[in-house]
Amino acid sequence: MSATDHLVIFDTTLRDGEQSPGATMTKAEKLRIAKVLEKLRVDVIEAGFAIASQGDFEAIKNIAETIKESTICSLSRALDKDIDRAAEAIQPAQRGRIHTFIATSPIHMKHKLQLGPDEVVEQAVRAVKRARNHVDDVEFSCEDAGRSELDFLCRIIEAAIDAGATTINIPDTVGYAIPEQFGETIKQLLNRIPNADKAIFSVHCHNDLGLAVANSLAAVVQGARQVECTINGLGERAGNASLEEVVMAVRTRQDLFQIDTRIDTQHIVPASRLVSTVTGFPVQPNKAIVGANAFAHESGIHQDGVLKHRETYEIMRAQDVGWHTNSLVLGKHSGRNAFRTRLLELGIQFETETELNEAFARFKALADLKHEIFDEDLQAIASDTRKTEKDGRFSLVCMQVCSETGVIPRAAVTLMMDGKELTVDAEGSGPVDATFKAIESLVDSGCNLQLYSVNNITSGTDAQGEVTVRLERGGRIVNGLGADTDIIIASAKAYIQALNLITVSGVRQHPQGADV
Ligand code: KIV
Ligand code: ZN
Repeated sequence: MSATDHLVIFDTTLRDGEQSPGATMTKAEKLRIAKVLEKLRVDVIEAGFAIASQGDFEAIKNIAETIKESTICSLSRALDKDIDRAAEAIQPAQRGRIHTFIATSPIHMKHKLQLGPDEVVEQAVRAVKRARNHVDDVEFSCEDAGRSELDFLCRIIEAAIDAGATTINIPDTVGYAIPEQFGETIKQLLNRIPNADKAIFSVHCHNDLGLAVANSLAAVVQGARQVECTINGLGERAGNASLEEVVMAVRTRQDLFQIDTRIDTQHIVPASRLVSTVTGFPVQPNKAIVGANAFAHESGIHQDGVLKHRETYEIMRAQDVGWHTNSLVLGKHSGRNAFRTRLLELGIQFETETELNEAFARFKALADLKHEIFDEDLQAIASDTRKTEKDGRFSLVCMQVCSETGVIPRAAVTLMMDGKELTVDAEGSGPVDATFKAIESLVDSGCNLQLYSVNNITSGTDAQGEVTVRLERGGRIVNGLGADTDIIIASAKAYIQALNLITVSGVRQHPQGADV
């Protein structure tokens, strides 16, 4: 196997992560996440699938122009047009990688590709050679390797390495593998493929059986030297292996792994928060490493133990992964400069002065209500401002809600709709229901509400509530986010944002759909 002194972390939050239904991110949001990934010292950032749409292409290019420390990668199917587009997108990068893939399992070759094994090998070789004409760093993936035949994997991988692939990725695309068996597959591949020493072997595990991290770690034990993962385990269906879990398992159990990553773990929690805010996917409280309860000790016995000697019940230190008690950053009297400086420290930069001014106005309004403003509040303000600026058919002008014991809740909502101000009121089973019904009686969107959730951004009853609304229409899914100290207003904002997103047309190709 090609030498590496560390375990390579390949983050695919911006590509596989974005394949989660509703997790679509804007170009500016992707760049913000890429900057945090760079701070984390991620080795490779898979910034997208260049041929999927003009928006995806531009997002990758933008990241390639800005990020200096991480390698920037674009996914491409094993097709000439995909590879050339990927090469164009990563062209500005200091270090660029093309990641090309083709399915290798009997079921995918027969039903999706409708190609025989010889044709698949031929196409893979051609793709790798074409990618190598553009860049020196080429990754080749055997899609659905988890259900592929070992002999065929050996054959196609040997050919791909001969053709110039420098990283070979073994994806468990459908999350079917079991740790011991998956580790054994990696071991067999490394032993049996004669030129295996010319490439780094990588794994990419999905979490359908909740085993993505375990499978990835079993592969590392057997010699895999790159793990593909995402922040918060975001990704297609049940998600990918979570970056924070893989990294902290390897770091905490150096006695077993004897290889470490280069990740600066103190940026893990901020990265997790950013991804959650941008996508509207809340982090469950009991999620390892980044969940709100991950370092909280409830029982008296545990607390007593931790107070006497931390390591009785703690295997990691909260501050090592970026947890800190909410530190007060700004207040009512903070000026525009202090506001701008703190945002820059958080990696948030607005594209226009108008956006900054609008965000500052929101900050002042919030500081009047809440007095103490934390980093998390600033992130929510930034997200809210960007989303409002970006999309436009509907915006909230004002609203009034009546919620009283024994009386049917009512909401009166005034919306700006295509430049016209319209007011309507409606009843509902509760104030949120009444608000959504009022909005719908104006918009008549035909959407299905798939998810409604509320989280507090910081602690305390004066905290901002952050609401996620997921809407579906004609198979298209979007997430809207809204933050406010009043959760009914936050709900209206989230609903309106989701409506704005769903009305923006944007057809993009899925990399794993059939088009060969
Ligand atoms: O899950 C998968 O197989 C993928 C490939 C495109 C690498 O995401
Ligand atoms: Zn995947």
